[in-house]
Amino acid sequence: MQIYYKEPTTQTHKPMMKTKRVTVPDFQRMKRRDEKISVLTAYDYTFAHLMDNAGIDAILVGDSLGMIVQGRDSTIPVTLDDIIYHTRAVKRGVQRAMIIADLPFLTYQISIDDAMKNAARLLQEGGADAVKLEGGRSQAQTVKRLVEAGIPVMGHVGLGPQSIKLLGSHKVQGKTAQGAAHLVEDACALQDAGAFAVVIEAVPWPAAQRISETLTVPTIGIGAGPHCDGQVLVFADLLGLFTAFQPHFVRRFAQMGDEASQAFQNFARAVKDGSFPSYDESYPMDEDERAQMDHGPFASPPERS
Ligand code: KIV
Repeated sequence: MQIYYKEPTTQTHKPMMKTKRVTVPDFQRMKRRDEKISVLTAYDYTFAHLMDNAGIDAILVGDSLGMIVQGRDSTIPVTLDDIIYHTRAVKRGVQRAMIIADLPFLTYQISIDDAMKNAARLLQEGGADAVKLEGGRSQAQTVKRLVEAGIPVMGHVGLGPQSIKLLGSHKVQGKTAQGAAHLVEDACALQDAGAFAVVIEAVPWPAAQRISETLTVPTIGIGAGPHCDGQVLVFADLLGLFTAFQPHFVRRFAQMGDEASQAFQNFARAVKDGSFPSYDESYPMDEDERAQMDHGPFASPPERS
């Protein structure tokens, strides 16, 4: 019988096994035990599945998908429906990692009622386990209401990409002693409101260390140095797939962009010179059927009117 699929050649796509999902109490436990928390962004099934099998603790369906997936120049145009669509795809690939979905620009700042409805959609329609929103003290009331309703919230202080129009560029935040003190206050307000973790973005490491030592909930750093309780990166930066620019804090753990370009060129060449597909990569036909096709009643094409 002709099979449709080839056997997988690598072990990276392990069959999905039922595993206990990482929960909010697990985050607190990891902080207490000094166990660093690994978080990556993902926007689709395939990468989310690979990350989950690799043991990544949480997957963030970030509004960075505006740049990485949609080719936009900021996160501002990303909609709630975009995040729901990508969260659903991620959800299908994940058994263990906590799935955190970003609340996009102006889906939580207009009113707390809006925030509640929109966060509920991320959980109910997207299948997220938690939501993330940007802002410190200004968002504390919103965080409190969401948490009271049973929605786990991850805060986000320091550089808030949704405020890029105000900031002008992706600037490091909290560079002065006073700026750092404000960030500590912001992070504390989020914790007091019930946030289960706080992302710290683009902040000098001593300030991020101060925040991490002050909070009892874990901090997840991106461009915030080694003293945060966990780290998050945009997956396309880590894999070297997104090369339009490279923030100072990004480490490229692979150069997949180069490898992908090479593979695309090789494919184009193989198609042009006819070496792809080979007969081995094609479906054969039963010899008798082939003889019938070539010489039997079906040999000439049917008349078409
Ligand atoms: O949208 C995103 O990917 C983020 C991370 C950079 C933390 O918010």
